[in-house]
Amino acid sequence: MSSAPPLRFGLIGLGNIGKVHCANFAAGKIPRGILAAASDPRPPPPGVLPGGARFFPDADAMLASGLVDAVIVATPHPLHRALGEKVLAAGLHLMMEKPLAATKLDAGRLLAHPRKPGQRFAIMLNLRTHPRYRRIRALLAGGALGRLQRVQWTITNWFRPDAYYALSDWRATWKGEGGGVLVNQALHNLDILQWLCGMPASLRAFCQFGRDHDIETEDAVTAFLHYENGASGVFTTATGEAPGVNRLEIAGTRGLVILENEKLLHHENALDAADYSRAASAAFGAPGVTVRELECGPAGPSHAGVLANFVEAILDGAPLLADAAEGLKSVELANAMLYSAWKDKTIPLPLDAAAYQAALDHAAANAPPRRRVIRPADVDMSKSYSTK
Ligand SMILES: NC(=O)c1ccc[n+]([C@@H]2O[C@H](COP(=O)([O-])OP(=O)(O)OC[C@H]3O[C@@H](n4cnc5c(N)ncnc54)[C@H](O)[C@@H]3O)[C@@H](O)[C@H]2O)c1
Repeated sequence: MSSAPPLRFGLIGLGNIGKVHCANFAAGKIPRGILAAASDPRPPPPGVLPGGARFFPDADAMLASGLVDAVIVATPHPLHRALGEKVLAAGLHLMMEKPLAATKLDAGRLLAHPRKPGQRFAIMLNLRTHPRYRRIRALLAGGALGRLQRVQWTITNWFRPDAYYALSDWRATWKGEGGGVLVNQALHNLDILQWLCGMPASLRAFCQFGRDHDIETEDAVTAFLHYENGASGVFTTATGEAPGVNRLEIAGTRGLVILENEKLLHHENALDAADYSRAASAAFGAPGVTVRELECGPAGPSHAGVLANFVEAILDGAPLLADAAEGLKSVELANAMLYSAWKDKTIPLPLDAAAYQAALDHAAANAPPRRRVIRPADVDMSKSYSTK
């Protein structure tokens, strides 16, 4: 471990997640990291910034201040690219909140921005710290499931009441957010999906726009995925279903994992099902199977863990949990699902980033004026950001 002085962070955006980052710094959850400065056009309420952190109403002034070595960008997604480019141009390390950008085109341009040698650029994909997903990834990497045949994730427990959408005027608008549940809540799950199973070769999605909320964007989605090796997938998500479901099934020729909420079951075939099928003389039957529940322990360190790893990457050269380039994939999946619904057809991947951008710009230009009143003063934030 390096004996370098602590890494001085700057934070751009003091909204909901920005305040979570402030609290993690204040609680000392980022070893060798301090919050030295923060910026937002609106001054934070007293007590939000940890002691010693300087406030800047203007992000440019903070970047030029010489007070920070690394910057977290935690603003609405359509600002991620422009602010990220400024941070990189200032020669500072960058931690981008998810999504990397609202669109694949912006994400690709941000990734292409020149960087100094050693300048680190990471993405806040905090669900990757959760032990249950790390356990499944280790099983897959070890070949425990054999050849991937099917993945199915029903992740509909992202319920959000209307008060959530009223928190900020950018939410769930084409112009201000560039999407709904896909680019926001379920983006975490899209990342885990591709982290575990890789990117599909094509997909066909059905999106419902403002099905359960008075919003422009999608709040209910089912997508069918086709993988290069012939495997298939179904991904279903929503923000209007309660209690909702979180159930992930991944089936391969050597077994099956089923994760339902906190319970992870591993079904292990005695023989690879493809080998069994070729060798068996009986017309019925199936390989013997052993079922084990895998203990995963409590939730991972989440946002604080990703930041702690970022500090280790910068100060000690540790590998990043999620290099920024990883952030492109979930954005591409989210964009492709919307594009498929708009075009009413199967979309091959990689997605045509320019065509998607044009479709999104068209949706933004043709969106009706927003109907709802923004920002109730007394929204209770106490249950925010549980991990899925
Ligand atoms: N990783 C996670 O679990 C997680 C959770 C929530 C939000 N997020 C992401 O964080 C981002 C912000 O989400 P939020 O819920 O905190 O939004 P929010 O609306 O609560 O906060 C955004 C903040 O950015 C500020 N801002 C806008 N323009 C700015 C600028 N140019 N310079 C400085 N500040 C500026 C706004 O004033 C506001 O305070 C989104 O991209 C979202 O997807 C990630």
